[in-house]
Amino acid sequence: MEYDHLNPYPFYAYMRRNSPVIRDDMGNWQFFRYEDVRKILTDWSRFSSRFPMGDTVLSGTVLNLDPPRHDKLRALVADPFSAPNVELLEGRVRAIVEELLSEVGREMDVITDLAVPLPVMVIADMLGLPKGDLWKFKEWSDDLVGVGGRDSMGELLEYLQRRIEERRASPRRDLISALLGSVVEGEKLTDRELLGFLVLLLVAGNETTTNLIGNSVLTMLERKDVVGRLAADPRLVTTAVEEFLRYRSPVQGVFRVAKEDMKVGGVEVKEGDMVFAWIGSANRDEEKFQDPDQFVPDRRPNPHLAFGAGVHTCLGAPLARLEGRLALTALLRLLPRMKLSEQKLEPIGNWIFLGVRHLRVELSS
Ligand code: HEM
Repeated sequence: MEYDHLNPYPFYAYMRRNSPVIRDDMGNWQFFRYEDVRKILTDWSRFSSRFPMGDTVLSGTVLNLDPPRHDKLRALVADPFSAPNVELLEGRVRAIVEELLSEVGREMDVITDLAVPLPVMVIADMLGLPKGDLWKFKEWSDDLVGVGGRDSMGELLEYLQRRIEERRASPRRDLISALLGSVVEGEKLTDRELLGFLVLLLVAGNETTTNLIGNSVLTMLERKDVVGRLAADPRLVTTAVEEFLRYRSPVQGVFRVAKEDMKVGGVEVKEGDMVFAWIGSANRDEEKFQDPDQFVPDRRPNPHLAFGAGVHTCLGAPLARLEGRLALTALLRLLPRMKLSEQKLEPIGNWIFLGVRHLRVELSS
């Protein structure tokens, strides 16, 4: 059974049924069942996030640490990303969505016209970066996850370091200034930690939200009845966003490293072994979800793992949910007139993410 990057679901179903845990050619353990994936994500005392990342600026960021250090660093950055603070951004995010959609004519590439620029513009706005720098931001974030083509890390770090120094000299009302000033138990972020966190925001926040929007539109083009239901009752968009996250999860899985010898999912894992937990498969597990291959816009409860679980649960989840809800609400105006253009859909070039490079559509008048 082959892994299809645009539709890995038949492969996952086969694996859950026949080989729910495998050891691959690289020696990594791969887990496909919901219960195992959830255990791996939540049990940080046995499954560490301190997997080797080389000497990159992302090593030692929250994503790559365990408690107690993880919790301390996360507390320093938690406030601006908390749900109540993110809700205050609703007006700004809606204005960005409307600005982007106002430029759409008879044809549109949902990815490049909306799904890519939206999260980049929102995070740049939060950080207080000039609009003119946005195109660089997108290029850097693509390069970081390997779908760009250049190694532009040095450029990005130099750019961010300069912005940090400007704010240290004269603080503003923006996220970089807030992070520079935040103190937990008498501790502040070091410059390296701040840089790492800013880069992490780019990597963790941009490609993922782009794929949430792209995957949602793709699903609605396949299921026009869903568009009708959402248009008739826009309050359903909130639960539908959760279902889009489950149905086509932007992040398909995460790595951990075993901290001790243990038995999990019926196999003996040794201390130091790398473990990969397939979130995309867990979210379609028939043992956990009724009719897992059906898209159910009002599915409740919906205990999907698209934002992870446990101490590393996505810090940007409230922001991603807000962007997803506002983008899809606005798109509901266009979707009844939207049709997929002739094209061969191509997967984005990183197997950990699920998404398409382009999604060209035509809008009838
Ligand atoms: C639909 C969009 C998104 C998805 C599907 C997603 C998914 C995830 C997942 C699965 C994790 C857990 C990683 C792990 O356990 O190792 C995570 C962590 C994280 N995400 Fe997101 N993310 C999204 C959007 C965002 C946004 C918009 C931001 C910020 C601007 C963000 C920032 C982070 C950060 C900082 C972490 C690390 C948290 C920690 O380790 O404590 N994410 N995300």
